[in-house]
Amino acid sequence: MTDAILSLRGISKHFGGVKALTDVSLELERGKVVALVGDNGAGKSTLVKVMSGVHRPDSGKYIFEEREIQVSDPAAIADMGVQTVYQDLALCNNLDAVQNLFLGREMTGPWWTGFRLNRAEAERKARDVLKRLRLDSISLRRNVGAMSGGQRQNIAIARSILWEPKVVLLDEPTAALSHSAAEQVGALVRELASHGLAVLVISHDIHHFVLENTDRIEVLRLGRNAASFNSKEVTGEQVVNAMVGGNEAVNMAG
Ligand SMILES: Nc1ncnc2c1ncn2[C@@H]1O[C@H](COP(=O)(O)OP(=O)(O)OP(=O)(O)O)[C@@H](O)[C@H]1O
Ligand SMILES: [Mg+2]
Repeated sequence: MTDAILSLRGISKHFGGVKALTDVSLELERGKVVALVGDNGAGKSTLVKVMSGVHRPDSGKYIFEEREIQVSDPAAIADMGVQTVYQDLALCNNLDAVQNLFLGREMTGPWWTGFRLNRAEAERKARDVLKRLRLDSISLRRNVGAMSGGQRQNIAIARSILWEPKVVLLDEPTAALSHSAAEQVGALVRELASHGLAVLVISHDIHHFVLENTDRIEVLRLGRNAASFNSKEVTGEQVVNAMVGGNEAVNMAG
């Protein structure tokens, strides 16, 4: 066991008669970006929801920092250091970047201020985290509803970082983005890994986003591990072939 932070071993999960996941294993390491790819319905989002504590697996092990965890609820998983950014982002359009970053957080002044939100302190922290992520160009005071899809995605990712997680899970962060906005998200994802975080990102954009911004590619097909590739040593065609099936499971991760 070297740099693994989060490992899933033999995870299965069904919904009624639908076997969403069967005997799936996955490992996330410090400083690495792993892409989770597969066709629609392959089980990617379900696997992320197991990792984030939304779904309790029927069987299998969830190991975090070498200890087996009993998945109870998403808040406990988040407290442990696993943050998830879902596709809908859960941002409030009528609030600005600072307010969104601290949404749901206790950002209160001392008791003699009546525990009011300390705006100056929040702004300072917001500026700090955006700078660390090289997102300084984002306006702190504009309502996020008036921002581009890429900027909104970046704010949602920055918000997850404020909790100083060890693992960040991103479900299709580039789905609705232009090529250049997706490139920005790619740069951000690599930035997170360079700070030592373990990152998992679901994407359908194999040729651009996945090959360019990730270290390893894990392919799910029909709810099972289908292949694992080193991103630097594989072609988009090989990845797509593994997604749609035909060949036996392959393992080419270096
Ligand atoms: N809450 C649920 N209740 C019932 N079935 C579900 C539920 N969530 C997922 N499923 C089923 O589990 C399977 C896997 O779905 P999942 O959303 O994980 O796929 P996915 O790989 O994320 O697909 P996509 O690329 O379309 O987002 C599908 O057959 C889906 O219908
Ligand atoms: Mg999905």
